[in-house]
Amino acid sequence: MSKLIVQNNGPLYGEVIISGAKNAVLPLMAATLLSSKTCLIDDVPDLKDVSVMKDMLMSFGAEINSDNKEELEVKVENISTTNGDYELVKKMRASFLVMGPLLSRCGRAYMPLPGGCAIGKRPIDLHLKGFKALGAEVTEGDFFVEAKAGPGGLIGASIYLDFPSVGATENIMMAAVLAKGTTYIENAAEEPEIVDLANFLNKMGARIKGAGTDTIKIEGVTELRGVTHTVIPDRIETGTFMLAAAITRGEVLIKNIVPDHVKPIVAKLKECGVTVELLDDGMYVDARDRVLTATNIKTLPYPGFPTDIQSPFMAFLTTVKGSSEVMETVFENRFMHVNELNRMGANIKTEDRIAFVPGDSELEGTQVVATDLRAGAALVLAGLFAKETTEISQIYHIERGYEKFVEKFRKLGATIIKVEE
Ligand code: UD1
Repeated sequence: MSKLIVQNNGPLYGEVIISGAKNAVLPLMAATLLSSKTCLIDDVPDLKDVSVMKDMLMSFGAEINSDNKEELEVKVENISTTNGDYELVKKMRASFLVMGPLLSRCGRAYMPLPGGCAIGKRPIDLHLKGFKALGAEVTEGDFFVEAKAGPGGLIGASIYLDFPSVGATENIMMAAVLAKGTTYIENAAEEPEIVDLANFLNKMGARIKGAGTDTIKIEGVTELRGVTHTVIPDRIETGTFMLAAAITRGEVLIKNIVPDHVKPIVAKLKECGVTVELLDDGMYVDARDRVLTATNIKTLPYPGFPTDIQSPFMAFLTTVKGSSEVMETVFENRFMHVNELNRMGANIKTEDRIAFVPGDSELEGTQVVATDLRAGAALVLAGLFAKETTEISQIYHIERGYEKFVEKFRKLGATIIKVEE
């Protein structure tokens, strides 16, 4: 098992280039199953989750060429099976995103039930509600789900999502593109990754309107062509580096960003007293020589404050003057980092979905566990501020979602090394 050893080496300083977004590239890769033609995806981050999705696509018969690591060429001329492989599915929850495309193209999909981050119950009822509305017959066993379209294939319908789930919106959108007639997804998720997927599908010949709003209209087409597309920059990685500059009281220029995608993070950092400016070549974050103060955070679906930045932001809030409240409304159990931050001296208390963060903490490095991807990032940030050494285990979570993590931090002057045990 590998570990990260992190030490406080003072303020971070310099430039960092953000990678393509993990949460955008995974659905794009799933969408390649919809066409028999070649799809080229550029700015693909080199991540564990991406390689699991590559294996997944190959298990369905995809030919993949990724000699140039940033570019991925996928061609799925024929689908060789519509059964998901449990060994792959259990490695990553997002693998469930292949269900919509398989059902749409082949009229059937069978998936063992997903694994992934341990952040509370992560049900799939809304995905299935969508498939059923499109006319599929869905069978749920204890350990699998099977969906079958009728003899005429899927049929367009109106679907209201009880919660604007990102994954359900993506899965239903992909199922509906080859359905007969028109589909409306209401109370749809509005995340930038949904817009990126809709753009990708439209370039393939789909007819999707309204992505990025709460109502998405999809007029079914009979087939999709190949596509060339560049993945949007990762807004969560962007936020993580903004917070790295803030927690170390440093000065960092963050390149390859979409400012609109990180508005709530920028607003909250400014409330704390951090300078954030949009320059021609990126986002400049300056937290040097000033007193930073507390703020309250409430996570929400986009365009609200992203749940994926809740734990890194909480790590930062432990270091500012005054106490803050952090409310998690998207996931039911996303405070596992609290225990680990408390082991470092943060003294955070939780009550149901609210964390009370006292601030002014003298964090001290110790042995901690990365319980999930973003919790891992939060602990690295805390380690960059803490006295003494922080030793973070279970870092495979971090490697699932952050490209060249150690390398990027070291370039900014952080003392961080990966050790194999
Ligand atoms: C995606 C992101 C993840 C992010 C999350 C919320 C990817 C690969 N992952 O996850 O990083 O934290 O969006 O921004 O893009 N829910 C249901 N029924 C369903 C589906 C979801 O009740 O059928 C609930 C979940 O339990 C959760 C909430 O909806 O409480 C949000 O989940 P969802 O938006 O679906 O997140 P993911 O797509 O899994």
